[in-house]
Amino acid sequence: MKVLVYGSINIDLTFMVDHIAKAGETIGSISIERSAGGKGANQAASLAKAGMPVYLAGKIGQDGRFLLDLLQSYGVNTDNVVEYEGSTGQALIQIDRNKQNAIVVYSGGNGKITTEEIERTIVQFGAGDLLLFQNEIIHTEELMQAAKKQGVKICINPSPYDKQVEALPLDMADIFFVNELEGMGMAGVPADTPYQAVMDALVKRFPDSEILLTAGKDGAYYGYRNIRERGTIMDVPVVDTVGAGDTFTGYYLAARYRNYPVAKALDIACRAASIAVSRKGAMEAIPFASEVFD
Ligand code: RIB
Repeated sequence: MKVLVYGSINIDLTFMVDHIAKAGETIGSISIERSAGGKGANQAASLAKAGMPVYLAGKIGQDGRFLLDLLQSYGVNTDNVVEYEGSTGQALIQIDRNKQNAIVVYSGGNGKITTEEIERTIVQFGAGDLLLFQNEIIHTEELMQAAKKQGVKICINPSPYDKQVEALPLDMADIFFVNELEGMGMAGVPADTPYQAVMDALVKRFPDSEILLTAGKDGAYYGYRNIRERGTIMDVPVVDTVGAGDTFTGYYLAARYRNYPVAKALDIACRAASIAVSRKGAMEAIPFASEVFD
């Protein structure tokens, strides 16, 4: 099985601040870091660090070449990442003293992907392969239709969750990875609904899809038809939670690919995400397989 991640590739600019800036306010930053990110690139890096053969497709500008070097050093195949005359996606991240974050994303190349590029890429994959994408790129419906035509399984991380997500033919998804906000949005339940109830509502809405729901300190939940499983996180000092969900996604899929049962795969993915939050940055904080697998 080959995994194709069609997704965003970003340069993350992270400001450590006392509190997230309010409207009209100018605040100082304790530090600034430029690092590798983008949900697509992070998830591809997580899969590769976990030992999976993974192919990343997307679009960057010249300013993003260093991201490809890094991804390739992890073993990610980047042959389907196109370079164009413009800027790579950028994420402006504020992390406050409580490790809460706020992120502003400029789409850059992620918003310049064409349907021709999608067609050219997807024909390289077929039955038994898996497509994983997020909501930080354009033409996701065309991507889903092209994947279906090829017999490729579809895995969606609908992040960030917005109206565009609901316009997609979501019933075509084989697997969903959602966080609590995305899960509640898609389940159509009020905030503060208990996770098990969110999961039940998601399973009811998507009876043919496997659902992975990440829940921060509460770990992660799995639901498919009448099957329910749960994974727990490790107690670690939290430094930076950006990219924790991406780490979880890559490690969960990699563990399943290694034929670990769902419950064990959940624990492995939670362990990987726990290690990631104890380190700075998104992509570079993702642990390697030797740190995670027994
Ligand atoms: O999921 C984390 C990522 O979201 C960051 O790396 C940032 O680039 C944004 O896309």
